[in-house]
Amino acid sequence: MKKINMFLWGNRISKFGFVLLLMFSYAAFANGNISNENSNFGDEFLNLSIATTQQSAAQTAAHQATSTATKKLQLEGKKPAKAAAKKETKTTVKKRGYDKIDDAFKGIGPGNNTIPFIIALLVFLVAFGGIIKMKGKKKYAFVLVALIAFGFISKIIYTEARALGRQQGYAPVQPIWFSHEVHATQNGIDCEYCHVDARTGRHAGVPSLEVCMNCHTQVKEGSISGKQEIAKIYEHLGYNPETMQYDKPAKPIEWVKVHNLPDHVYFNHAQHVQAGKVACQECHGPVEKMNRVVEYEEFAMGDFCLKCHRERGIDTSNPYYKHYKFKDMKEGDKITVDKIGGADCSSCHY
Ligand code: HEC
Ligand code: HEC
Ligand code: HEC
Ligand code: HEC
Ligand code: HEC
Repeated sequence: MKKINMFLWGNRISKFGFVLLLMFSYAAFANGNISNENSNFGDEFLNLSIATTQQSAAQTAAHQATSTATKKLQLEGKKPAKAAAKKETKTTVKKRGYDKIDDAFKGIGPGNNTIPFIIALLVFLVAFGGIIKMKGKKKYAFVLVALIAFGFISKIIYTEARALGRQQGYAPVQPIWFSHEVHATQNGIDCEYCHVDARTGRHAGVPSLEVCMNCHTQVKEGSISGKQEIAKIYEHLGYNPETMQYDKPAKPIEWVKVHNLPDHVYFNHAQHVQAGKVACQECHGPVEKMNRVVEYEEFAMGDFCLKCHRERGIDTSNPYYKHYKFKDMKEGDKITVDKIGGADCSSCHY
């Protein structure tokens, strides 16, 4: 017993540190989850990958150009407007009883673990004190409590480490309460009516308020929010619903982007929606049921992107693939996305 005791608690600090280190390494490892087993497959497809990379490089340049342009605009005196917009969102948020995350989407993502972490840590420290002070059987009761608390702490650290840089469950308040449930389900409006670039572009895009006006010159009141939210469309456009004139100064709207990949990742909607025939819901979840948009999936490299690429067959009726011969492949074999370069680092990383 004494020996076990020595092993467990002799030089406690160093052992605690060692276990903590093990935990962190495991979390970091689980987060990466990289495998490159398929990358030697397609020498023939190298060209394709290079083409994609070149295209991405061009697109990054374009992207950077627009973002510097935006930054410049902001520097050149757009800041007061931004501050005003922020203030406005703050005051209106209070009155928005109807703008809530739908119950069905509440449990998504790692959640806020701060309080459970503090509690588990306190329990652990108290038990640790008990172990030092107590003798005999009581000591083992404290050891048990400490181990349980330690288990909780490890679980929380793992969950948090996994979620680093990811945003599953993120559901920010938007400047205008826009409900996909009201528009896509109740009024049956097609996703691509508003997100017009999803089929042709890298970004699906968010519609400009002019698109809203196709309907909202007529629909001036909602059954849930009354006139309050629709009036904000008019306000931003400088539109006067009484005179039906655009006679006031317009101010740009700043939707909060919900889905974000790190800057080192390249993602293209057209590749998936048009060429890959992947439904919006496979990546975004049931958006048509959301009254506030939530990031539904954990956009993880291994468990999300690569998992699908390893299982999903490409659409071989796409005439583009007629020009490709697939090594070691018989007629009728399923060609998964990783076999056309979908698991090569350079396909997704700059
Ligand atoms: C009437 C226009 C309209 C329709 C129809 C529509 N959306 Fe949207 N969508 C918007 C607007 C405006 C936003 C930005 C505000 C927000 O995030 O709530 C948005 C945001 C989104 C976002 C989050 C974008 C981000 O910031 O990361 C996703 C994903 C999305 N829509 C998917 C869909 C899908 C899938 C459908 C079809 C089921 C759909 N939308 C139908 C107007 C529309
Ligand atoms: C294969 C997965 C996938 C599919 C399918 C998909 N999206 Fe996305 N979507 C993403 C990812 C990943 C992002 C974040 C992109 C980024 O940060 O660059 C995103 C971002 C968005 C955004 C935010 C603005 C933008 O374009 O970056 C909107 C809006 C959106 N998607 C709508 C749609 C709609 C509508 C469809 C269906 C027509 C769709 N998406 C299909 C993965 C997907
Ligand atoms: C194709 C027509 C159409 C388009 C485009 C459209 N809407 Fe609507 N919108 C409607 C209809 C119909 C209603 C339902 C009114 C009701 O509640 O009966 C509505 C309701 C609303 C409501 C109030 C919801 C409620 O029930 O209280 C808001 C806010 C709103 N829309 C904002 C927008 C915004 C912002 C855009 C542009 C991004 C937009 N709409 C684009 C047709 C449209
Ligand atoms: C639900 C399945 C699915 C998910 C999830 C998915 N993809 Fe894809 N992806 C596809 C399909 C299918 C294709 C093949 C399209 C084609 O035929 O060219 C593809 C192709 C690609 C390509 C082009 C590969 C090449 O070399 O030709 C890139 C890059 C890519 N995806 C990136 C991503 C990233 C980044 C993510 C995660 C954020 C992701 N994908 C998530 C299904 C998916
Ligand atoms: C299908 C697309 C895709 C491919 C192929 C891909 N990655 Fe990633 N990678 C991603 C996405 C998306 C992220 C960011 C999301 C996340 O944290 O997992 C990412 C994140 C990373 C990170 C940061 C780790 C982290 O957790 O933040 C590293 C490092 C990385 N990738 C290396 C690689 C290497 C090396 C390869 C080739 C063996 C590779 N990737 C292939 C999509 C891809």
